[in-house]
Amino acid sequence: MGFTVAIDGPAASGKGTISCAVADHFGFAYLDTGLLYRAVGLRVLNGAVAIDAARSLQAEDLESDDLRTAPVAQAASKAAAIPEVRSALVDFQRAFALRNGGAVLDGRDIGTVICPQAQVKLFVTASDEVRAERRYLELAAKGQNVSRESVLADLRERDKRDRERDAAPLVAAEDAVVLDTSLMGIEEAVAMAVEVIEGRMG
Ligand code: CDP
Repeated sequence: MGFTVAIDGPAASGKGTISCAVADHFGFAYLDTGLLYRAVGLRVLNGAVAIDAARSLQAEDLESDDLRTAPVAQAASKAAAIPEVRSALVDFQRAFALRNGGAVLDGRDIGTVICPQAQVKLFVTASDEVRAERRYLELAAKGQNVSRESVLADLRERDKRDRERDAAPLVAAEDAVVLDTSLMGIEEAVAMAVEVIEGRMG
């Protein structure tokens, strides 16, 4: 039987870094589900219709260097509000979650919609300013020409859209453990996540 760790949270909350580290720690497979939506967003920016893009997504769509840019993130968030886009991506995510050997999935709706039966659910959050600073440093390190203000505005706009949409809105599952990383370094956050997961592994 699979062992699924669902890690949700708002933009740039640290969920990707934590997911990667815990997957590494336990030897689980890792899926960044945001990449699926970003790949759809990128194809929309290149002229595709969102639903068609989601239905015909290919592995190589996940490899573009452009996926981590702010315009693609915005296009992803717009496409992610379309129910048919979300439903086209469900089977792949669920199959990944149940693979042998354990899986970590991060996103917005993993604990609520994709894997309500996940053995572990974490909801990772941090203040808007801390998240914006982390994302700004990440994008600047990649040589992207962005300002702190534009990064903060992008996160707030996406979070609002992601929280207020009807289809699988961003919300903590009732049984999720909330991890506020505003005042934590990455090592501390990962250690806490590992502790929660170990507690559920029995
Ligand atoms: O890295 P960051 O947290 O900024 O974003 P991401 O996880 O790559 O997700 C990009 C966008 O995809 C989000 O703003 C959501 O609109 C959407 N998304 C979603 O709706 N459901 C998911 N499971 C993952 C991402």
